[in-house]
Amino acid sequence: MVKKKFSTKVIHSGHGSDNETGAVMPPIHLSSTFKQNKPGDFQYEYARTKNPSRDILEKLLASIESGKQAFAFSSGMAAINTVCDLFGENYHVICSDDVYGGTRRLFDKVKTNIDVTYVDFDTNVNWDDIVNDRTKFVWAETPSNPLMKIIDIKNTAEIAHGFKLPVICDNTFASPYNQRPLELGADLVVSSSTKYLGGHSDIVGGSIVIKDQDLYGEKIAYLQNAVGAIPSPFDCYLLTRSIKTLSVRMQKHNENGEKIAGFLESHPKITKIHYPGTDQKYKSIASKQMSGFGGMMSVVLDTNLEGVNTFLSNLKIFTLAESLGGVESLIEHPAIMTHASIDKKIRDSLGISDSLLRLSVGIEDVEDIIEDLKQALETI
Ligand SMILES: Cc1ncc(COP(=O)(O)O)c(C=O)c1O
Repeated sequence: MVKKKFSTKVIHSGHGSDNETGAVMPPIHLSSTFKQNKPGDFQYEYARTKNPSRDILEKLLASIESGKQAFAFSSGMAAINTVCDLFGENYHVICSDDVYGGTRRLFDKVKTNIDVTYVDFDTNVNWDDIVNDRTKFVWAETPSNPLMKIIDIKNTAEIAHGFKLPVICDNTFASPYNQRPLELGADLVVSSSTKYLGGHSDIVGGSIVIKDQDLYGEKIAYLQNAVGAIPSPFDCYLLTRSIKTLSVRMQKHNENGEKIAGFLESHPKITKIHYPGTDQKYKSIASKQMSGFGGMMSVVLDTNLEGVNTFLSNLKIFTLAESLGGVESLIEHPAIMTHASIDKKIRDSLGISDSLLRLSVGIEDVEDIIEDLKQALETI
């Protein structure tokens, strides 16, 4: 068997040409139910439980994340909710302090029987103080949303495993092209496939990929079926199709991201830039565990909310919108948009201020993106 490299896997994993027709792209199986030869004798039973279009996507996701098994969900949040349910109830979690606002909202306001210790992994963490006998897992979002903090996955996994705790990585910002947490010691990987995996801002989806099938496989499959937060066959197809270009898209996101960060870093109207490729605190660990720095960054503008709004309203190529990872450049205001559900006091303590903007650099011509930012910054 040929051992496939990443860019071959994104195109060829999950399916070959269709056995029946020879179609190079797989058919979309819309059927909600499947014929049984006799009761209980079937390949597929009912589409919520398992279906051919989701099977293809899940095999592909497992392959590109270097995992044993993958599970597709109707959104990133549905995947994260499933992880919470996987560990039961009334337990404790250790979570990196800068995470997507929806993750914090789920942990703090929905899963009220889970208590969470938020940890700044940049500081010297005293693990003996924070782990207790109710602790079930460590949640690490890296790069983090929106401050682009980088957590050393290998080191965190080694420490957590010393306490017999699994590490769950949210890999949404890096995508498996740039970072594969399971290869670095993480136990589960969660992604919002709405972002780089989908890549075209036209799918909402999520996934969990696991390293240890025996430990987690059956229970996640049970929850996926029992709760039913599954993607449609059409969305599974669309995602399978999108992932085929993940490598080429990510190469261009990485290239444009580095050039835009370089431009913004030296601009007088920018007081701070958070980007793994320019941030001296994170660059060396990011270089070790990522193969590219991606297209995500956030910046602090040297102005107030009014100035920020002026800047935003003058952008011509960037669209002011939530989400990220699409081919088009997007910009958003975390404090008012993606992280509004986090209490202001916590936002302030993290550094999510009114002058912070998050950019998802697309794959347009980089000169045009720079020109757009330049002319809008001049209006402040
Ligand atoms: C890092 C991260 N994780 C998870 C999610 C949730 O994913 P979804 O919007 O697909 O539910 C998001 C959404 O922005 C995110 O940025």
